[in-house]
Amino acid sequence: MLDRFNRKINYLRISVTDRCNLRCHYCMPAEGLCMLKHEDILTFEEIQQIVAVSVPLGIDKIRLTGGEPLVRKDIVALVGMIAEVPGVKDIAMTTNGILLEKFANPLYEAGLHRVNISLDTVNPDKFREVTRGGDIQKVFRGIEAAKKAGLSPVKINCVIQSTADESDAMAVKHYCRQHDLEARFIKQMDLQAGEFGIVDGGTGGDCRNCNRLRLTSDGKMKPCLFSDLEFDVRELGIQKAIELALGHKPEKGSINLKNCFHNIGG
Ligand code: 5AD
Ligand code: SF4
Repeated sequence: MLDRFNRKINYLRISVTDRCNLRCHYCMPAEGLCMLKHEDILTFEEIQQIVAVSVPLGIDKIRLTGGEPLVRKDIVALVGMIAEVPGVKDIAMTTNGILLEKFANPLYEAGLHRVNISLDTVNPDKFREVTRGGDIQKVFRGIEAAKKAGLSPVKINCVIQSTADESDAMAVKHYCRQHDLEARFIKQMDLQAGEFGIVDGGTGGDCRNCNRLRLTSDGKMKPCLFSDLEFDVRELGIQKAIELALGHKPEKGSINLKNCFHNIGG
């Protein structure tokens, strides 16, 4: 499907939960977070149906995000249900890697093709600080498990403050080179302030070539990360929500006062 600016839209990013087992300071407040109610979260059947309606419209790439997708109960079953939909060519996941050691194999078996793992530093103390308590060894084991399981490519997402020359980013680059991983550097963004940029080594933030729609875990179809626009799949029906999101996709991003990274998935 083509939008008003002749961009080919073939990529749907699905946030499967707004919960996370980490608390990265740029994504989550330390506490007092207002979480979605369980009954508002899309069921697996609803997500599968949304994918099934999206594919004939032109979607062939799916990415599962969060929060942290691996904290959603039975996530492996959901991957299997999405893989069953004819016409889905590519299923990816963005994860913090904490639970990946356990899940890499079953995810691959269920039909997941590839993963992006978030890693902003290779320093265990710095990692604990950035994520407010995370154990980096689990992520390292998760990365190895992903490679061994056959997930390919395994990419590393590294959030940077200003440039990819920062010492943490340089160390991540070095780690990736040593471990045969692809690194992507993402400048820290601020949805509310409308601060966003092109992802170094990726496709995000490049409005002119944007190919994506987003689905929140409570069923809002969003045309753009940096926009308040959203269309409720349950209210409008799936097809209508997709058509409206497509028809309202802005030429470029501005600001999003409604969402945070933990509920829209980066
Ligand atoms: N700016 C840039 N990237 C962010 N992420 C989370 N919050 C932000 C932010 N404020 C990234 C995570 C992860 C992906 C889901 O989004 O690091 O890689
Ligand atoms: Fe969790 Fe990812 Fe947000 Fe960190 S950035 S708190 S890992 S969702």
